Amino acid sequence: MAPQFFFFFFLLVPSHLSLAQTKYTNITTGTTLTPLRKPTSWPSPSGDFAFGFLPHPANASLSLLAVWFEKMDNKTIVWCANGDRPVAADGSKLTLKPDGQLSLTDPSGREIWNPGASGAAHAAAVLDTGNLVLSAADSRVLWQSFDHPTDTILPGQTLQQGAQVFARLADADYARGRFVLALLGNGNLAMFPVAYPMPTHYPEAYWDSDTSGTGAFQLIYNESGSIDLSHNSTLLSVISTAVPGDHYHRATLDSDGIFRQYAFPKNEPGTGDWMVNQALAKDICSKLLSVSGSGACGFNSYCTMGPDERVACLCPPNYSFVDDGRKYLGCKPNFVAQSCEPGGEASFDFQVVAYLDWPWSDAESFSSMNEIECRANCLKDCFCAAAIYNNGSCWKKKYPLSNGRFGNDVSRHALVKYSTRSTSARPDQGGRRPDSRVWAVGASSFLAGSAALNLALLAACLLVSRSKRRRLVGTSRGVAGPSLCSFTYRELETATEGFSEELGRGAFGTVYKGALAAPDHEVLPIAVKKLECVHDDELEAAEKDFMNEIRTIGMTHHKNLVRLLGFCKEGTRRLLVYEFMSNGSLHKFLFGGPVPPGWSRRVEIALGVARGLAYLHEECRTQIIHCDIKPHNVLVDDGLAARISDFGMAKLLRLEQTRTSTGIRGTVGYFAPEWFKSSAITAKVDVYSFGVLLLEIVFCRRNLDWGYDLESETRPTLTDRAKECCRTGRLNELLGEEDEEAKKDGMRLERFVMVGLSCVQEEPWMRPNMKKVVQMLEGSTEVDVPPNMYSLTM
Ligand SMILES: *[C@@H]1O[C@H](CO)[C@@H](O)[C@H](O)[C@H]1NC(C)=O
Ligand SMILES: *[C@@H]1O[C@H](CO)[C@@H](O)[C@H](O)[C@H]1NC(C)=O
Ligand SMILES: *[C@@H]1O[C@H](CO)[C@@H](O)[C@H](O)[C@H]1NC(C)=O
Ligand SMILES: *[C@@H]1O[C@H](CO)[C@@H](O)[C@H](O)[C@H]1NC(C)=O
Ligand SMILES: *[C@@H]1O[C@H](CO)[C@@H](O)[C@H](O)[C@H]1NC(C)=O
Ligand SMILES: *[C@@H]1O[C@H](CO)[C@@H](O)[C@H](O)[C@H]1NC(C)=O
Ligand SMILES: *[C@@H]1O[C@H](CO)[C@@H](O)[C@H](O)[C@H]1NC(C)=O
Ligand SMILES: *[C@@H]1O[C@H](CO)[C@@H](O)[C@H](O)[C@H]1NC(C)=O
Repeated sequence: MAPQFFFFFFLLVPSHLSLAQTKYTNITTGTTLTPLRKPTSWPSPSGDFAFGFLPHPANASLSLLAVWFEKMDNKTIVWCANGDRPVAADGSKLTLKPDGQLSLTDPSGREIWNPGASGAAHAAAVLDTGNLVLSAADSRVLWQSFDHPTDTILPGQTLQQGAQVFARLADADYARGRFVLALLGNGNLAMFPVAYPMPTHYPEAYWDSDTSGTGAFQLIYNESGSIDLSHNSTLLSVISTAVPGDHYHRATLDSDGIFRQYAFPKNEPGTGDWMVNQALAKDICSKLLSVSGSGACGFNSYCTMGPDERVACLCPPNYSFVDDGRKYLGCKPNFVAQSCEPGGEASFDFQVVAYLDWPWSDAESFSSMNEIECRANCLKDCFCAAAIYNNGSCWKKKYPLSNGRFGNDVSRHALVKYSTRSTSARPDQGGRRPDSRVWAVGASSFLAGSAALNLALLAACLLVSRSKRRRLVGTSRGVAGPSLCSFTYRELETATEGFSEELGRGAFGTVYKGALAAPDHEVLPIAVKKLECVHDDELEAAEKDFMNEIRTIGMTHHKNLVRLLGFCKEGTRRLLVYEFMSNGSLHKFLFGGPVPPGWSRRVEIALGVARGLAYLHEECRTQIIHCDIKPHNVLVDDGLAARISDFGMAKLLRLEQTRTSTGIRGTVGYFAPEWFKSSAITAKVDVYSFGVLLLEIVFCRRNLDWGYDLESETRPTLTDRAKECCRTGRLNELLGEEDEEAKKDGMRLERFVMVGLSCVQEEPWMRPNMKKVVQMLEGSTEVDVPPNMYSLTM
């Protein structure tokens, strides 16, 4: 074939295109174009546009027949003939046949596309506007791509009433997609979701120009780049204005359903990029609420705005995309559906995603229900896929979940049901992190006798979201909230009978006893801590920190920590809801009773506190320095195990863990010397306090209670006495008369005392870390004998 056909002619185009008398080229009858042999495209006279074959962006062995911006490195397709039916690059061809038909055929010769022009074309050409035109011998326009837009309109293009612009299916898939922009008979320009894969659209528009009844029947993208609605050239409404400067322009209904007007600086074709000048229907996530259909994203997924101002469709935790490359197909659960047999809920639980709602797909809804009841209700119901909770209202959702939306303005949160089965650690075996459910059995005797439901319910509320913060790019608020129950103030007021029974008062607030009603008329005893110190001016800044710290505290799982069950954040009110520890504080336990607890019990308690602290310092995701370890802050549960409370408070209340802004924290008798110095505050302050506490546990004596000479500056502390007795090898002197059990366990007694003394060393770096402390107490590691303690043989 001759390499080129140069054939210049004049084509008269409709005057509103203002292109009359433009000189351009060149496709004459008999011309053939193929995807692999050059030329694979024809340029417009200026070279701004080209028409021809482009490799399919998702599969280079396929070809698209298209019109695109030619001068930029990334060819931007503005019109596509065969988006739904890409052809094999090898063997397909486009021919302007001698009979005047333009025809795209695949390698087998089957016709894939034909413009269906109204007569025999004499020539075809792509104009400098990007319009592909077929003209007759008398220069009449027989067909033009501007009358058959795909997803993009260009300056110079006019849409008439009835015209439709379909979004493409995905960025790299030019098939007709899930949204349509239509100029309606009533003069409204509107965008609708499409009942993909059917071409029909749902009746509810998610955006419209609000020009119905104005008689608008043309959408004009004028050459200066302004998009207007007009009535017979009378301007009615400016849809989008031009961007100043020398730019290429286009407006595209993008695959995410947002209609964007783009500009590209002409003087930097290589390095420039399309900038969004204006976007219509940016709020598609909240505005697209189709009664039928899945919404802006696929079924079981949810919609939110990414940082690039594009719609992001995401799967809830424990769900994944049906097809990662085609997210619009929605998400499927990663687990086997819940059995409807009794007990089917046993291995099911919830992941909490704050600010997420599926406003449609209700199965049932309830008002005046607390979150625990809401969870239990959905858990028991094998048809309940998720529950949405907010301020006493509970909505149970059924499959498929539709119109999902995540955003700061969604006041509800979603409890997404999932099966715990598919994890590697089986729920009935304590792994590195003990399973709360197992723990709940051991520690919560109030549940004894109550049904498995209660257990599941408690566990459901207790289990902290193990979800990683999911990468929702850009949004500052965490996607996955803590799996903690959020309560309203009123709920807690009711639960505590108006904050009537005070359990204790501490530096951070007052603790009240309460009870939550659980289904089956069981009650769950709780301790509610009302925090003080939220100042209005700090509220906003404190708000985010509060949630972050709550999340950190909520993530802790250890049998020697008091479990945070939930919280309330309403106005300036901040309350924390903990499980209730029936046996009170270690202070009361050690010093409050007529007879001190037995030695073996004390050993267990000491080990428990050490393990809990080691977990806070070294094992949980974010290191937590307690800063105020003392017997009042260790509680004793029904199983008489030690449970550290009040951890995380320092940061929660924005008291920095460095002394610079807060001065000394901690309690006289327990705080480490570095609080008085300028050295850094590290986890070693807790080691010091633990050392004091350990000696108190061992001897059942208060550190500062030793001797009653309040006047004397030099009254010895328990620590001093222990050091002294240690040197002289007369430890038994410090034990109570009746403490026979301890006296008989001399080796362990010495070991514990040595550990305690090594913890209270002046220099933080000399103190062991808590992991080492645990090992030394357990006897699995030699004790580092503190200096000057040589008289003891270990
Ligand atoms: C079309 O005509 C232009 C000149 O206007 C020329 O540069 C180009 O090579 C021609 N293309 C073909 C395929 O004939
Ligand atoms: C690309 O398309 C060809 C032809 O349809 C197909 O055989 C091939 O599997 C596709 N490749 C990819 C990576 O999808
Ligand atoms: C395009 O439209 C804008 C706003 O309607 C108008 O100001 C401008 O003059 C128009 N430009 C052309 C070339 O028609
Ligand atoms: C638009 O204007 C032309 C001439 O100005 C007129 O012939 C035509 O009927 C008008 N069309 C409508 C729909 O008003
Ligand atoms: C071209 O497109 C690729 C992939 O979409 C993108 O990574 C790249 O930044 C684009 N280049 C320019 C200059 O826009
Ligand atoms: C929660 O609901 C109660 C009554 O049901 C209402 O008085 C209160 O204002 C609501 N609180 C919020 C934050 O919506
Ligand atoms: C559920 O999702 C969370 C967070 O995405 C993940 O950590 C956990 O392993 C998942 N559980 C199961 C059983 O798949
Ligand atoms: C601890 O709690 C249990 C059960 O509530 C109770 O029987 C026991 O007397 C309590 N022990 C102490 C030391 O308070």
